Amino acid sequence: MSVFPQLRMRCLRRTEALRRLVRETALLVDDLVQPLFVVPGKHIRQEIPSMPGICHLSVDYLVREVQEIAALGIPGILLFGLPTSKDESGSEAYSAAGTVQQAVAAIKAAIPDLIVITDVCLCQYTSHGHCGILDDSGCVDNDRTVELIARTALSHTQAGADIVAPSDMMDGRVAAIRRSLDRSDFQNRLIMAYAAKYCSAFYGPFREAAESAPKSGNRSQYQMDPANIREALREVELDIEEGADIVMVKPALSYLDVIRKVRETYDHPLAAYSVSGEYSMLKAAARAGWIDEKRAATEVLLSIKRAGADFIITYYAKEAAQWLRQLP
Ligand code: PBG
Repeated sequence: MSVFPQLRMRCLRRTEALRRLVRETALLVDDLVQPLFVVPGKHIRQEIPSMPGICHLSVDYLVREVQEIAALGIPGILLFGLPTSKDESGSEAYSAAGTVQQAVAAIKAAIPDLIVITDVCLCQYTSHGHCGILDDSGCVDNDRTVELIARTALSHTQAGADIVAPSDMMDGRVAAIRRSLDRSDFQNRLIMAYAAKYCSAFYGPFREAAESAPKSGNRSQYQMDPANIREALREVELDIEEGADIVMVKPALSYLDVIRKVRETYDHPLAAYSVSGEYSMLKAAARAGWIDEKRAATEVLLSIKRAGADFIITYYAKEAAQWLRQLP
């Protein structure tokens, strides 16, 4: 009598070549985007304590880092900036001479083919650390913020950004950005919307890196409740209607069901952002010798692909690209 099909499958999985033949999901260097932090100044390369291996880089060192990233075959980067000074309305965010604007121009001059995505938000630039400007009652003023977000996106685009990625979660910002880019003849530049962005504890290390923690209150006024998935679909739908070219779910690992649901509901390109806390947890466990870092990180990234993301924004991009280039 023949063995059960399931047992036959198990035998098959013992052989690496057969395992490769029947594998359902592949993680490729093509799927990775590396986030980077640019700071004002020169010759600065300073590791962020809560994110081992990730550095604050001044533009000169940033360009070198991006050259290495591009040489590994990684298709794109996501750029965050820190200002020289902060104020109530985050004015350095939309200054043509801002750090991000300078960085984009320098990267585009050195490596024109690499996709440069910029994060568009005010929280690194405002003195109070919220993602927008505040009204008299201390609440974020949605409509006035949207104007500044659109100005920021336009300034990044003028500097050469291929894709702008609004992460502020204000209502109507995607439409406002689209209008402002189109008016300035940037019809062919893309918008990647942080569409379903949850109010997450996993942003902790990033807020240290970007010095962007709110001085008071939290972001639950404009970020989503981790308990909700139907709301995520509505957010995604609105951003698509407003003209988003790529939609994003963030964080990734605790929201694999959301990624899958968005994948099944919409045909738009879908990004997943594996955020700072997801990275730092793996790094910490690996440093303590509690997990095999390469296997664990690859498993996490693969799970995000399997859930349905087209690509993954991950602080592991560079390392993962190095791992993926080694033969098994
Ligand atoms: C800014 C922004 C945040 C992240 C990306 N853009 C932080 C936040 O909302 O507080 C988080 C990224 C990460 O944790 O890696 N609005």
